[in-house]
Amino acid sequence: MRAAAHPVVHIDDDRFRVTEWQFGPGAETGWHRHGHDYVIVPLCDGQLVLDLPGGQKATASLTQGVPYSRREGVEHNVTNGSDSAPLAFLEVEVVDGALAHRRQSTMIAMMDAFNARDVEGVMACMAADCAFHASAGPEAEGQRHLGRDAVRRATEAALEAFPEAAWTEGKHSLAGDTGLSSWRFVGCRPDGSRVDVRGCDILLFDGDLIAVKDSYRKARG
Ligand code: NI
Repeated sequence: MRAAAHPVVHIDDDRFRVTEWQFGPGAETGWHRHGHDYVIVPLCDGQLVLDLPGGQKATASLTQGVPYSRREGVEHNVTNGSDSAPLAFLEVEVVDGALAHRRQSTMIAMMDAFNARDVEGVMACMAADCAFHASAGPEAEGQRHLGRDAVRRATEAALEAFPEAAWTEGKHSLAGDTGLSSWRFVGCRPDGSRVDVRGCDILLFDGDLIAVKDSYRKARG
């Protein structure tokens, strides 16, 4: 039975978590999966023994002050390879990357749901308190649909207006709480008239979900 490494959390905010891991001789972290991208900064020279999934073992040399980075998903048990010397490193996790990743997934899921004509799938991407500002309408914001029921009705109406509709060439990006989904919309109305225009949604996020979907479409003239 090995001793446990000791974590000391120095920073834990919405963007970073910085943990100093202090290992006595032969101490181990225990099995863990990294939920975030991270950087390790060794605070001293040393040797790590890594237990990896599938029963594999590896060793890694640490050099004081020489950092290395790893991506989310790494799974291992980390042991101080020395039986006599302590070891320490800083682990710097980029925790907001996970939120950005989930928001990116939400934008992809919403476009997929529109293409699947899945109204509940669209609503699953929207926050409890949500709004949809259509690309056309009487107000400066277009037609505003406020609240989940109104957003659901507007989504149904948009799909009814275009019995054939495809949002293609989707591109999704994020800046802070704002998402941008751009696409090319190709649709056919019940009267057979076709629309083929580029457009975008400017999205305001609340957590993982969309609080405001503000739609813009090119007008061909
Ligand atoms: Ni680890």
